[in-house]
Amino acid sequence: MSSRALPAAWRTHAERTLPRYTSYPTAVAFKTAAGEAEARAWLGATRADQTISAYVHVPFCKRLCWYCGCHTSVFHEYDRVQAFFQTLMLEVDLWADAIGPHAGAAHLHFGGGSPNALAPDDFLVLVRHMADRFALRPGAEVAAELDPGMLTEAFIDACGEAGVTRVSLGVQTFDPEVQAKVNRIQPFDMVAAANDRLRKTGVSAINFDLMYGLPGQTPENVAATTSAAVGLRPDRVAVFGYAHVPWMKKHQVMIKEGELADGDGRWAQAEAADSILRAAGYLRIGLDHYALPGDLLALAAASGTLRRNFQGYTDDPAPVLVPVGPSSIGRFAAGFVQNAAATDVWSRAVEAGRLPVARSLRVSAEDELRAAVIERLMCDLTVDVGAECLSRGFEPTALDDAVAAAAALQVDGLCRVEGRTVTIPAEAFRLMRVVAACFDAGLLAAERRHARAV
Ligand SMILES: C[S@@+](CC[C@H](N)C(=O)[O-])C[C@H]1O[C@@H](n2cnc3c(N)ncnc32)[C@H](O)[C@@H]1O
Ligand code: SF4
Repeated sequence: MSSRALPAAWRTHAERTLPRYTSYPTAVAFKTAAGEAEARAWLGATRADQTISAYVHVPFCKRLCWYCGCHTSVFHEYDRVQAFFQTLMLEVDLWADAIGPHAGAAHLHFGGGSPNALAPDDFLVLVRHMADRFALRPGAEVAAELDPGMLTEAFIDACGEAGVTRVSLGVQTFDPEVQAKVNRIQPFDMVAAANDRLRKTGVSAINFDLMYGLPGQTPENVAATTSAAVGLRPDRVAVFGYAHVPWMKKHQVMIKEGELADGDGRWAQAEAADSILRAAGYLRIGLDHYALPGDLLALAAASGTLRRNFQGYTDDPAPVLVPVGPSSIGRFAAGFVQNAAATDVWSRAVEAGRLPVARSLRVSAEDELRAAVIERLMCDLTVDVGAECLSRGFEPTALDDAVAAAAALQVDGLCRVEGRTVTIPAEAFRLMRVVAACFDAGLLAAERRHARAV
């Protein structure tokens, strides 16, 4: 099993701080002072034959991992979480009443934070309420991201009863020393037991999140973690590079920068995980996902229907994403909306009977075009830019400046440009954001806010 070192010509590219392109335009472009009226009008435009999805953000955790980049806070008393749960139930009604006729929900996703901060009964009631109010379709995916460190047997059983189809467990690392450095003690046996019980309860698909670039991580201990993880045979594995942004996430100052690997070290760690996963039969999907060949994501990748949205890579084709919970982002035909991030602001709006939307962005036809090109590159590693332009009513030359910018990356081997088709070679997949960035019209203003590309 050989791992490739970071080629010298790629070092500067890997250092670039770039968006993850889970949307285009990226969330930093969303404007404040969005009107609730706008969100209602956009929602109302949903067609009766369109499926919808919903994302629920639970911004609570039992612990704060020092590396965490998510929107969350630690709770000590359940009263706070329960009050939050009751507001969530009201918010589901607000969105369901506003949306009008649609073809039912194809996908419910619970993220955070840790949705298992909710009491098992409250979680069950919430899933059933959403299934009812959003007309959950038969065979729909109901997915939840769970923290194994506070995952009780009662919660796992509630997942079974609620009809949860997929669970993502945050594994990150099994190395005890790295766990101590990031304030996340989580023995292997804890994850193995959760994995077993989830499967026995009927949760048919399990994902693991792994990380590289954490303090104290080395190619060797990333390899050991990855081998232990694949031994449990998760259906999917995500391998995320630690995004160190202490200017945005203050608790990350707890991480000693001197203990973080440099670009070459991060690359070697990512390669170590990659080679073990692929040798174990996992297919590489997009930037940071791996899946067993029968998994829905692998099937979507094989058929060219893979999508990228705020949850990362998905096979969910629904054109409408309803945002539930503080900071959640929604997508409607006309544009994006984001709920208020502060839990008190969000709950005051909901309790007053208002959709808790704080920011929005209407997307233009050009935004849609750029978004499509970026999404295909991030999903398929290849895109016929001219064909995308034509299919959206633009001249095939409309993005020629961006194609020329991509062509300038050919000399370093990041992509190939033939006519207007841009292709990222498999070995350069980890730098796909650098190629995608050529099509990002708003990048210059945003570049300083993001984390490094690798
Ligand atoms: C919402 S958490 C997963 C569920 C649960 N809270 C847990 O930690 O087990 C989402 C995932 O984001 C990843 N993540 C969190 N902070 C990150 C960061 N700063 N850089 C890269 N990935 C990060 C972790 O892999 C984590 O599992
Ligand atoms: S990584 Fe997960 S458990 Fe840890 S603080 Fe972030 S959201 Fe919470």
